[in-house]
Amino acid sequence: MLTARGRSSTDAPWRVGVLFSYTGYMALIEETQLRGTLLAVDEINAQGGVNGREILPILYDPASDPATCGRYAKKLMISDNVTMIFGCYTSSSRKAVLPIVERLNGLLWYPTIYEGFELSPNVIYTGAAPNQNSVKLCRYLMRNYGTRFYFIGSDYIYPRESNRIMREVVCRHGGRVVGETYLGLRALRGDFRPVMREIKELQPDVIFSTVVGDATTYLYQSYADAGFNPKVMPIASLTTTETEIFAMGFDVGEYHLTAAPYFQNLPGNSNELFVQKYKRRYGDDQPTNMCAEAAYFQMHIFAKALAATNSTDPEILRPMVLGSNFEAPQGKVTINAASHHTDLWTRIGRANRHGQFDLIEQSMSPVTADPFLLAY
Ligand code: ACM
Repeated sequence: MLTARGRSSTDAPWRVGVLFSYTGYMALIEETQLRGTLLAVDEINAQGGVNGREILPILYDPASDPATCGRYAKKLMISDNVTMIFGCYTSSSRKAVLPIVERLNGLLWYPTIYEGFELSPNVIYTGAAPNQNSVKLCRYLMRNYGTRFYFIGSDYIYPRESNRIMREVVCRHGGRVVGETYLGLRALRGDFRPVMREIKELQPDVIFSTVVGDATTYLYQSYADAGFNPKVMPIASLTTTETEIFAMGFDVGEYHLTAAPYFQNLPGNSNELFVQKYKRRYGDDQPTNMCAEAAYFQMHIFAKALAATNSTDPEILRPMVLGSNFEAPQGKVTINAASHHTDLWTRIGRANRHGQFDLIEQSMSPVTADPFLLAY
């Protein structure tokens, strides 16, 4: 039953939509976002829910297909009467959901690094924008490895846009992009062989990767097949997490670099608890990662705003979300009211032989989200 200002007075569960793939070539990473989401829901429900009502996730599996993701978003909003959707890894799936949440006035909670240059009133962005990872990573690579970059990405919006930005950053710092290649999202180990041959010829100082999904595993395995030395010419990535390293083999991932707001290895009470609960629920060998962490903390931020407003009407909930903060496993994060993005930590890690990232650089405090790179 709805009372004045759309507030609900029932004890029925709060229904929310969840759209992460647990089948197809993106399942490896998206399933960890599903896990982070459900772990947070369990925690909230174990504490009695929100204002006495449990959160009930309505799950659909987009099967790694952006158009299916769009169709499920529509079904969630029209048939399931849901206004809040937690979901999407690839930017192409976010782009498929965007017109639906904008037209039907929903709110998409998007827990993934992406290319920036977007600001929808109907999205809360909780992954890193390029100013929170690419810029620092570029500077670090130039100082420690050299100025000649080779770009390798999966062939869709995010890697192409992200590389456009990285090219500008590299060139502005006096570096050079000596090669740039895109492979299909379903690329297999053998598909990377010609790329490795080209890298052998061009001899860059560093390989910069925005390959995603299962193909990530094949990129690093193919690199190892080619006999390159990661201590000299590492793959530096924005997308390779502990989960992909687990899939490719710890020996294959060792010495490669990733820029991310969160690594499982971080010290601190909030992270230790998160890792402990994640492993208890999903298995001792299952690593956490930046995507699972963002999916986890954004559900808690939603629940806090919901407790204050007692409404899932985006018009009522949104003002409470904007400017709110949370002690996340990565440290304190804030939803930036001006940009709808999240002020996050910037970190660079090097994979060790246990499949974890040793921290080699981090920001002194959370970095303000600047999705349009206005400060650069
Ligand atoms: C991505 O597609 N935003 C990783």
